[in-house]
Amino acid sequence: MVPYHEQVTDLIRRRRSWRSYLERPLSPGQIGQINRFIESMDPPPFGTNLRFGLVDAHLPEKKRMPGTYGIIKGARHILVGAMTSSPMDFEDFGYSFESIILFCTELGLGTCWMGGTFNRTLFGLLIGLKDGETIPAVSPVGEPASSRSLLDSLFVLSAGSKSRKPFPELFFSRDFSTPMSEPQAGEYAQALEMVRLAPSAANKQPWRIVAAGDSFHFFLARSTAYRKIFPEADLQRIDMGIAMFHFESAARASGLAGSWQRMDASHGICLPRNVEYRISWVAA
Ligand SMILES: Cc1cc2nc3c(=O)[nH]c(=O)nc-3n(C[C@H](O)[C@H](O)[C@H](O)COP(=O)(O)O)c2cc1C
Repeated sequence: MVPYHEQVTDLIRRRRSWRSYLERPLSPGQIGQINRFIESMDPPPFGTNLRFGLVDAHLPEKKRMPGTYGIIKGARHILVGAMTSSPMDFEDFGYSFESIILFCTELGLGTCWMGGTFNRTLFGLLIGLKDGETIPAVSPVGEPASSRSLLDSLFVLSAGSKSRKPFPELFFSRDFSTPMSEPQAGEYAQALEMVRLAPSAANKQPWRIVAAGDSFHFFLARSTAYRKIFPEADLQRIDMGIAMFHFESAARASGLAGSWQRMDASHGICLPRNVEYRISWVAA
């Protein structure tokens, strides 16, 4: 796992989606640091073929970044990710892309995960999309403006971006009928809290985790309409990958070792409606 200089938990707490930027380009030094970080990244947990590029999307006469439907103001650099299809591709993508987002956060730069409101054709051209590759998500990267644009503020308000569901609505002991409080999570409280603070598409927070024995089983509570609105990418499985990165990096920072395993579907756990099993963290 790629180390940060700061505590990963501080970076997770500090990151916010930002849609308004200064018009200043990134310095060659900043671009070099991001590119070196990308080059030094470990492969994702399930080995999906991923490719990332920081590209310049600047058009001198435009105040809004082209290809983002007018939502991103000021930024000229965009982080574009491409992947080839595999069974755990969206989780792997979310996991790795979030590690770059947190590195940009460490550099004091603003970012915004974008899975829906961007033009895949344009950014495909900019990254030189190859046969068999798709672009699940992108993010502007730049110096945040001192205040949010009106459109940015409206986004934050409509998605309820500042709030998160309480711990017992997301995390459970043994089965879905036993909510877990933060003190009950013991040494894993911080790792779970980092999942709770994760960004998710439209702030839906679809992750549900059941702790059983030495395992944490990650389930996805699907918003069914979502997959139909954005058929190009399974945004909620990307959310899951982001949660995996937050959980693992915070667990490791607390000295808790383990590994990701895809197990038998439900572990005998009775599943609420529209909830599906994705992955388990098994403590070492
Ligand atoms: C997979 C994913 C896709 C997203 N897609 C968009 C998008 O298309 N447009 C946008 O403005 N924000 C998008 N967001 C940002 C979310 O709205 C934001 O993360 C959420 O409201 C929580 O706010 P925060 O990131 O400031 O904590 C996306 C986030 C994720 C994780």
